[in-house]
Amino acid sequence: MGSRMHPLTQIAPSILTADFGRLAAEVAAAEAGGADLIHLDVMDGRFVPNITFGPGVVAAVRAATKLPLDVHLMIEEPERHIDAFAQAGATGITIHLESTRHLHRAVQKIVEAGCQAGVALNPASPIESLREISPFVDLVLVMSVNPGYGGQQFIETSTSKLRRVRKLLDEFNPTCDLEVDGGVGAHNIGDVVRNGANIIVVGSAVYNDEGSVAENLAQLRQAMTVR
Ligand code: DX5
Ligand code: ZN
Repeated sequence: MGSRMHPLTQIAPSILTADFGRLAAEVAAAEAGGADLIHLDVMDGRFVPNITFGPGVVAAVRAATKLPLDVHLMIEEPERHIDAFAQAGATGITIHLESTRHLHRAVQKIVEAGCQAGVALNPASPIESLREISPFVDLVLVMSVNPGYGGQQFIETSTSKLRRVRKLLDEFNPTCDLEVDGGVGAHNIGDVVRNGANIIVVGSAVYNDEGSVAENLAQLRQAMTVR
């Protein structure tokens, strides 16, 4: 492991545990607090047990911030909904490689819709399944919890998985972003960054009752740089 710190390390707050009754204000607070992207978790009750929201909420968030919108689709057959999320204002759309039979076609559809294309993999999915698709995507998302809920515990083997994915990307797509999602907070954000992640999704460590969004983001940024 090197102490590789990607120059473009970015924090992407997930609104999953935000107050949906005040969603525009919650998003504005993240922007004011220095967030780099807003991460939106779309769940269909089939690919994952939980149901969240669709393109309508993405459009509402689009109207509430200038930040790029990082839309994470945890839905079966995501190809059926890519155009709707692109029209709603997604900057990037990430689909799970476990959720479609024709991953390459779905990735192409994201690109044709004018969005950055991402591919996500569940904790049990091997990194080798990224090899053929990696040259075609802008981002790879390593799930460090089982998708479905905020506030879960980080699966510790994800750190070495990040390192191995970064190595694979350095070979097949060196400019590709590597995103980590699930269970990241001040206690481990430095570790995931040092192991190659450069876009860090943080849900419950940003939106919680312990601190304001700005305080929580400042603490995360500080923890990212302290070894
Ligand atoms: C989980 C979602 C994550 C989640 C992260 O299925 O994809 O984005 O909201 O929340 P925390 O940071 O609380 O694990
Ligand atoms: Zn997510």
